[in-house]
Amino acid sequence: MPTGRQVAPPKSTPGLPAEASAKAGAAVKRQRVLSGMRPTGKLHIGNYFGALPNWLKLQADDSNDCYFFVADWHSLTSDYADTSQIAQNSIEVATDFLAAGLNPNKSTIFQQSQILEHAELHLLLSMVTPLGWLERVPTYKEALENIQGKDLHTYGFLGYPVLQAADIVMYGEPNLPLIVPVGEDQVAHVELGREIVRHFNLFCGEFHWSEELRSVPNLMRMTIESLRIPVDFSSLSFPLVDAAWESFERRARARVLESGTSNALELLHRKISESGEPLDLVVMHVKPVLREPGVMLTQTPRVPGTDGRKMSKSYNNSITLGESDAEIRAKTKVMMTDPARKRRNDPGNPDVCPAFDWHKLFSTPEVIERVNRDCRTAAIGCVDCKHVMADALINWIEPIRARRQEYESKPGEVLEILDAGSKKARVVAQSTMARVREAVFGWEKTRSAISAGAATKHNLPSGRHGVKAGE
Ligand code: TRP
Ligand code: SF4
Repeated sequence: MPTGRQVAPPKSTPGLPAEASAKAGAAVKRQRVLSGMRPTGKLHIGNYFGALPNWLKLQADDSNDCYFFVADWHSLTSDYADTSQIAQNSIEVATDFLAAGLNPNKSTIFQQSQILEHAELHLLLSMVTPLGWLERVPTYKEALENIQGKDLHTYGFLGYPVLQAADIVMYGEPNLPLIVPVGEDQVAHVELGREIVRHFNLFCGEFHWSEELRSVPNLMRMTIESLRIPVDFSSLSFPLVDAAWESFERRARARVLESGTSNALELLHRKISESGEPLDLVVMHVKPVLREPGVMLTQTPRVPGTDGRKMSKSYNNSITLGESDAEIRAKTKVMMTDPARKRRNDPGNPDVCPAFDWHKLFSTPEVIERVNRDCRTAAIGCVDCKHVMADALINWIEPIRARRQEYESKPGEVLEILDAGSKKARVVAQSTMARVREAVFGWEKTRSAISAGAATKHNLPSGRHGVKAGE
């Protein structure tokens, strides 16, 4: 029976690159960071600004243990009918990751489908995910209504957020915060992932209630009241008999799920401290199987396409990271500006000008300030203005493009980096899944009980197995 506070498991963080932990003076990684992107092909500057500056910032902080991946299975959820481009697109995305400055010596860069454990965890999480949660995801309904030319009426597409939840929590450790930097469009998915994890932990996590609750009425009363457990305190007689104790445990577990484990612990602690009892009274231990992830909403700048619409490969209004000077010049020359500015002498409004949005990304503060002023008085014309912007864009893109060209010429190296990263990611995934499988099935316990010759039904180790959902 557990007494005292929950103790961190003795094992050190699995999956940290061996060199990193061995290197003298290497920073202790205090936080896991995970994010991914589906392989849509060569990244354009809109894709870039939607994620990479934030990823690079996180990578630069040595206290982060970063995992970035190409979500190739996710492409199948909406594009199963044509898979011909997914492999090549994955290489393109990985090439752009590297060109942008993700560093395989610092971050683990991997490919989702190389880690079979994601599929296994997706399956297990799918068992506890209510259909209604998935049907209510705002992007789901929207996509069904708006996206044409694709069949989205599939089990796989509905389950997309479950797969995403698996991607994320796979890299959580019980004692290491896990954060997921994403843009606004993905926040709802990560939030849903948190709900799924809570639900899963309820069914599979280890809850231990202090045995003292069975014999100390005051402690039991505080627990029932603070967590609002549907048990009639006045009907209990102490010490509780087994049946009453088991019924309490089941209902209490359900309440902890409803309120969330950290909330439940807080409620309990508050009640205990108000009562004047010593605060180190431990009523409940929770050992979640999976770590709840935290969302990190990342700020992303507005990056309109050259025609002022949303930048998209299919609108042909984008600039990729490998674009040549000539292409950049040609595309920016015809780029849309303030639509109200018809003649050279008309004053313009940079606030509604896509070219000015790009200035803000690539030009120096001085140039931005000058354009912002001279545009409004017609002291600068759009042709010149866009020319100055293109100079800055070319200047910005040059080092990225040079790295891209280098990796492009050595696709084998990109593959090697993905393979090596996937191998590292797999170590973490395998350790997570060993924990998860044991929590779900308890096979290890069962096996060792059998080999200890104690294989009768009655003295198999009791645990959470046998707890029925919904009780
Ligand atoms: N859904 C994300 C996208 O469309 C990609 C993704 C898959 C992801 N799994 C993830 C992002 C896990 C963050 C964390 O771009
Ligand atoms: Fe846009 Fe520059 Fe023209 Fe002003 S001068 S409308 S900022 S392109």
